[in-house]
Amino acid sequence: MKMNFRLGKDNILNIMRIAEDISHIRDLDSLLDRVLSEARSFTDADAGSIYLIQDNELTFDYVQNDSLSKQDSTSNRYLYSNHKVRISHSSIAGHVALTKEPLIIDDVYKIKTGVPYNFNRSFDERSSYRTKAVMTIPLITSLERIIGVLQIINAKKANGKIRRFKEKDKLIVSYFASHAAIAIEKAMMTREIILRMIKMSQLRDPTETPPHVNRVGAYSIEIFHQWALNRGVPLDEIKSAKDTLRIAAMLHDVGKIGVSDVILKKNGSLNDEEARKMKMHTIFGARLFLGRTSDWDEMAAMVAINHHEKWDGSGYPGHVPDIQQNAIKFGPGKKGNEIPLFARIVALADVYDALMSQRYYKPGWSEDKALDFIERERGRHFDPEVTDTFFSIYDIIKAIQDKYNTEARSEI
Ligand code: C2E
Ligand code: SIN
Ligand code: SIN
Ligand code: FE
Ligand code: FE
Repeated sequence: MKMNFRLGKDNILNIMRIAEDISHIRDLDSLLDRVLSEARSFTDADAGSIYLIQDNELTFDYVQNDSLSKQDSTSNRYLYSNHKVRISHSSIAGHVALTKEPLIIDDVYKIKTGVPYNFNRSFDERSSYRTKAVMTIPLITSLERIIGVLQIINAKKANGKIRRFKEKDKLIVSYFASHAAIAIEKAMMTREIILRMIKMSQLRDPTETPPHVNRVGAYSIEIFHQWALNRGVPLDEIKSAKDTLRIAAMLHDVGKIGVSDVILKKNGSLNDEEARKMKMHTIFGARLFLGRTSDWDEMAAMVAINHHEKWDGSGYPGHVPDIQQNAIKFGPGKKGNEIPLFARIVALADVYDALMSQRYYKPGWSEDKALDFIERERGRHFDPEVTDTFFSIYDIIKAIQDKYNTEARSEI
């Protein structure tokens, strides 16, 4: 039975306004975060998640859960859970991806017989959460391509009690999802292009892998998030900043494309001339983003040029009057707050990941050794406040590692 509800002019205008807003978000994770918050707000839903389709699997890409985040201030870690569902009719998300039809279930613990799907209780069991009412909406682009599904969980009445999803909820969220899908598809393409730039520099320096840059990007924005919370920066400002920050952090070393692979792959320490050429990767990186047509280019240039500066002023390239000149002379090192905040953050994230990884010139360090090093360099190489923030969110850092190490394995 298909009931006919009308969305109403106010709803449509409201959704159009939000759709216009989200169409400007370029970073995929920032976008998913926003899409899910908006989709949940239409029904005052307690939780939700987004699955994206990658290689015939639904990847559990983004999750929000108000009840759990109240209990556990580090609930951010759920963001990095790495859960894949094969696309088949046996899961709710898979069924919706295949049928391309929205699905409302009043209580997933009491699914009626005669349907192909089951509810997977493992997430509830791990987190002691009770998923009840679930609305699952396909994310379909204008070309009828399905890119994922949006799942909204436990809509609430004004008194906080869970209510079932109604036909009208489905209409509103589906209408919103049709706009969101287009923005998500665009952000997925941007992410792909960035990963291709990184794969290009990986042809020179095989240590610059997608998992390495994904980790550095994720560590950096999580350190930034906590740093900004400590400073009382409003959450919406933090979230919009993270959009450009992740991309810039991921691209910190693409200037290595301009360095000879003989130097990059040298099995041993570099002589002075080689070290100088190596240091040029900061300048090459910044040159790639010159023109600076967007805040994203500007941020990427800023991180590339400053990510090897050190808090005590002993880093490079230092103050360089004109990075376009042929003969670059490295200047006196930038010091303390002269180094832009986000470069101070990427510096720590990059060194931590480089220490823990194997390089041509050194084996991977143990975690203890790497953390000791970072502790000792607090106030020398690294901004003390950034260092403290890093240690205060170390459980999130570990969750990021779990996520991207799995991806590394599947990529090989
Ligand atoms: P990378 O391998 O990604 O390392 C990034 C940064 O992590 C380094 O910046 C350094 O601050 C830190 N780091 C990495 N490994 C070690 C280590 O074993 N000990 C210490 N104390 N710090 C470490 P840095 O030194 O400016 O190097 C920038 C890039 O230059 C490196 O990126 C790597 O590609 C290259 N590089 C540095 N040293 C050598 C070397 O001795 N041999 C070769 N072949 N390449 C080197
Ligand atoms: C599903 O059945 O849609 C998957 C739910 C989950 O695994 O969390
Ligand atoms: C700071 O340095 O404390 C914030 C400003 C910035 O560097 O971006
Ligand atoms: Fe670098
Ligand atoms: Fe790096």
